Amino acid sequence: MSYIIDGKAISKQIKDELKDEVSQLNCEGISICLAVVQVGNDPASSVYVRNKKRACEYIGIKSAAYELEESTTEEELVKLISELNSSDEIDGILVQLPLPKHIREDLIIQSIAPEKDVDGFHPVSVGNLCIGRSGFISCTPAGIIQLLKRSEIEITGKECVIIGRSNIVGKPMSILLLRENGTVTVTHSQTVDLKKVTSRADILIVAIGKPKFITADYVKDGAVVIDVGIHRDENNHLCGDVDFEDVEKKVSAITPVPGGVGPMTIAMLMENCVEAARKKSHR
Ligand code: GUN
Repeated sequence: MSYIIDGKAISKQIKDELKDEVSQLNCEGISICLAVVQVGNDPASSVYVRNKKRACEYIGIKSAAYELEESTTEEELVKLISELNSSDEIDGILVQLPLPKHIREDLIIQSIAPEKDVDGFHPVSVGNLCIGRSGFISCTPAGIIQLLKRSEIEITGKECVIIGRSNIVGKPMSILLLRENGTVTVTHSQTVDLKKVTSRADILIVAIGKPKFITADYVKDGAVVIDVGIHRDENNHLCGDVDFEDVEKKVSAITPVPGGVGPMTIAMLMENCVEAARKKSHR
């Protein structure tokens, strides 16, 4: 029997800590506002955006919603971000990804002021992370570190294998695990003999983007498995990149989908918003 890492409960714990912190800040006359920008109406993005606004409400952070037409131009979006950058009312800016094809994501990310980059995607934030300076950290990998720490899973000296090299998850995850003294391997679509590499992992982080791809034969006995994926299976049930039923029997701890990594991403976004407001109050 493996330990099921309860991301929902851990994220609730973090949100409750933040709620107290926000009410303390409110007493000091500091209120917090997150700008949430969505372009078009991709159904999955709409769900994420709704959950982020709900978390803001729970914690006591205001959210300012900007729901823009699919046909919005790059120039129009950059203009909005520039206004949000200079607004004293706004502490953090979140532009939900993916953006429509005609808008360059990297250009939009770069147009966000680094001090309001609560997603941690700006090159300044990424650079700070790489060289060990403080700054905003991409929410999903930051949430995974919290899941491990709050479940008392040791990272120091462990073989950590990440599947996936995205800018949002795989790459920042590798830096964070390195910072926690893990021995880190990043695998990707061109990796030769993936199974051989994943089978040596003490901690396996799976962000491959394929439903139930990772079966028991990819994991070592007693490993810790963190599943970043979220999909609908053939019965329209939510599932991850990991075949939970198959893998669960073999590992020491595993995150479920839903209720694992997903809620942690939002909790970390909230933490970044509180940090943005705190830093602003010290400027
Ligand atoms: N799309 C998928 N994950 C994320 C995220 O963490 N932040 C934003 N802005 N968009 C996303």
